Amino acid sequence: MGVSLIIQVSHLYKIYKTDDMETVVLSDVSLKINKGEFVAIMGPSGSGKSTLMHILGALDLPTSGTYFLDNQEVGKLSDDELADIRNRKIGFVFQAYNLLPRTSALDNVMVPMEYAGVSETEQLKKAKKLLEMVGLSDRMNHPPNKLSGGQQQRVAIARALVMDPAIILADEPTGNIASAQAEEIIEIFQKLNKDGHTIIMITHESDIAEHARRIIHIRDGKIVQDGNDHKQRLIKESYEIIKTN
Ligand SMILES: Nc1ncnc2c1ncn2[C@@H]1O[C@H](COP(=O)(O)OP(=O)(O)OP(=O)(O)O)[C@@H](O)[C@H]1O
Ligand SMILES: [Mg+2]
Repeated sequence: MGVSLIIQVSHLYKIYKTDDMETVVLSDVSLKINKGEFVAIMGPSGSGKSTLMHILGALDLPTSGTYFLDNQEVGKLSDDELADIRNRKIGFVFQAYNLLPRTSALDNVMVPMEYAGVSETEQLKKAKKLLEMVGLSDRMNHPPNKLSGGQQQRVAIARALVMDPAIILADEPTGNIASAQAEEIIEIFQKLNKDGHTIIMITHESDIAEHARRIIHIRDGKIVQDGNDHKQRLIKESYEIIKTN
């Protein structure tokens, strides 16, 4: 079997209109991502990264353009279908963790399974296994407000994984975390990617982005560079240098 597309975005625009102003936040973004890729998205503050990620995660719809997620056209789905896709196909990891602060790590991880109607025994089994995977076996009963930033982010990753999503979307997952802990978070993503998860991660830091196999640069709502193209251009250029010498 060859590579298969999991995300296909064509001519996407996101425009906010008020009475006297129009803000173009995404402008003619086209993008293809295959199953199993590890993609980093970089760009200045306000360039549209989170907006794009919200659209990719079916949390928001574009003003125009089409988005196919796993061969389904997202713009044509009902609210219920969208909610189901968000819960089953996508795992979200946010910079601010978005955990319930006074509920145990274990219960936080179980939330998406509760929504999906998974049995309690199964919920417990899965949540424990994932918290072990992210190195938190000894912190399962701690609430997030008694955990470090890196530990909270690992709870958020475990929660993102409980429904075994094909895609993991992470918006600055290491943004609030000291660099040693950030390395650990990235190692978890790399392991997940090896296991076949598609990962799309926004980051400001180029040393974090280097861990991805493909880096997409966004500026003013446009893709200005895509890692794969960039590599190909370099190969072509070096070939031409060899030829002309
Ligand atoms: N509801 C809205 N109405 C108008 N403009 C908006 C709205 N929401 C977001 N924007 C604008 O969209 C632009 C892109 O925002 P976005 O959050 O996608 O940026 P970002 O690249 O994630 O930035 P950062 O790195 O700071 O997180 C910003 O300039 C923002 O002001
Ligand atoms: Mg952002």
